[in-house]
Amino acid sequence: MSAATILQELEAVSKAAVDELKRVTNEEALLAWRTTYLGKNAVVVKAFSSLGALPTDERPLVGQGANRVKAALESAYNERAQALKESALIQSLGAQALDVTLPGRPRNRGRLHPDTLILRELLQIFGDMGFQVFQSREVETDEYNFQLLNFPLGHPARDMQDTYFLDVPNRGDNPLVLRTHTSPGQIRAMREIASLNPSNPPPVRVIVPGMVFRYEQVDVRHETQFDQLEGLAIGEGITFSDLKGTLTDMARRLFGPSARARFRASYFPFTEPSAEFDIQCFQCHGKGCGVCGGGWLEIGGSGMVHPVVLANGGYDPARYTGFAFGFGVQRIAMLRYGINDIRYFWENDLRFLEQF
Ligand code: DAH
Repeated sequence: MSAATILQELEAVSKAAVDELKRVTNEEALLAWRTTYLGKNAVVVKAFSSLGALPTDERPLVGQGANRVKAALESAYNERAQALKESALIQSLGAQALDVTLPGRPRNRGRLHPDTLILRELLQIFGDMGFQVFQSREVETDEYNFQLLNFPLGHPARDMQDTYFLDVPNRGDNPLVLRTHTSPGQIRAMREIASLNPSNPPPVRVIVPGMVFRYEQVDVRHETQFDQLEGLAIGEGITFSDLKGTLTDMARRLFGPSARARFRASYFPFTEPSAEFDIQCFQCHGKGCGVCGGGWLEIGGSGMVHPVVLANGGYDPARYTGFAFGFGVQRIAMLRYGINDIRYFWENDLRFLEQF
C-alpha cells in the first residue's frame, strides 16, 4: 500500500469512528468501539506496523498522520466515557435531580447579633459627633488598668471591679490582668495621639468599644464578660456641659427626641468631678414602671478627666481639660430590645438570636 492510500484510509476511518461514537450510549458499546478503533487490529494500529514496508522518505508523513488520528480517537473516547459516566450518575440520583420546576431548598438566613446591631448604632451616633474608634487591648497590665488611672496600689476603689489576674510570674507590682473596663484605652489613646506632637498634643475624640472581664457571680444582670463603650474628649476649654450635651444627644438618638439624660454625683478615681448618668425611661417617661422602677435607667459612669490621668496620658492639665464616659453595651441592648437576662447574649440559643 502506498503512503497516500494509508493516509486516505486513516482519514476515512477516523471520520467513521467519530460518527459512530456519537451513537454509543452505553458502556458495552463503548468498549466495542474501543476494540474496533484502538485495539490491536485497528486501522491506526496497523498503520504503524506498515511503516517498515514504506520507502524511508514516506515514513515520517505516515507516522505523523497515524499519531494524529490515534490521539484524536483517544481523546474522543475519553470525552465520551466521561459524558456517559456523568449521565449515569444523574440517572442514579433519580429523575428529581433534573426537575427544574421543583421549588428550591430553603436556607436559613444568618442575621446580626443584637450586640452587633447596638454597637453599630453607637458607632454611627458617635461617628456623627466626630469620635473615632480606638481599639485597645483585652489583656492589660495592672499599670494601665489601674495605676495610670489614678488607682494606686492597694487603693480601695480597686474593689469596685473584681479582677482576673493572669498567672504570669515575676511581674512584681505590675501583674497582667484581663481588663476590667475599657478605661485603660483612655491612657493608650492619649499617649498614642500625644506622641504625634509631644510638645503640642492634638485634641482627642475617641470611643473605645470592647470586651471587658470581671470575676462576677453570674446572674440576670451580671456576666463575667461583657462589652463596654468608653468615650474620651480632650482639648482646650472642654467643660462638663460638653459631656452633658454629648450624652444627651446619644440618649435622643437611641431612645427618641424626647429622651432626657440625668447626672448624679458619684466617685471614680480617674474623673473629678464624677457622675453616674441615667436616661429617662423610654417606656414610662419618668413616671416609674416595670422596666425602670423609678423612672430612670442607670446607664454608666462619666466625669471630667482627672488631672493626674491627663498628665499620665501626656496632656498638660494646666492647658487641657477633657471628659470621659463609659457604659455597658449590653445594658443598652437590653433596654432597647426588652431583654431581661444578660445571660442570653452568649448562650447562642437560636430561639433568642432569631428574634433580631
Ligand atoms: N470604667 C468605669 C467602670 O467600668 C466606668 C466609667 C466611669 C468610665 C467614669 C468612664 C468614666 O470613662 O469617666 O465602672
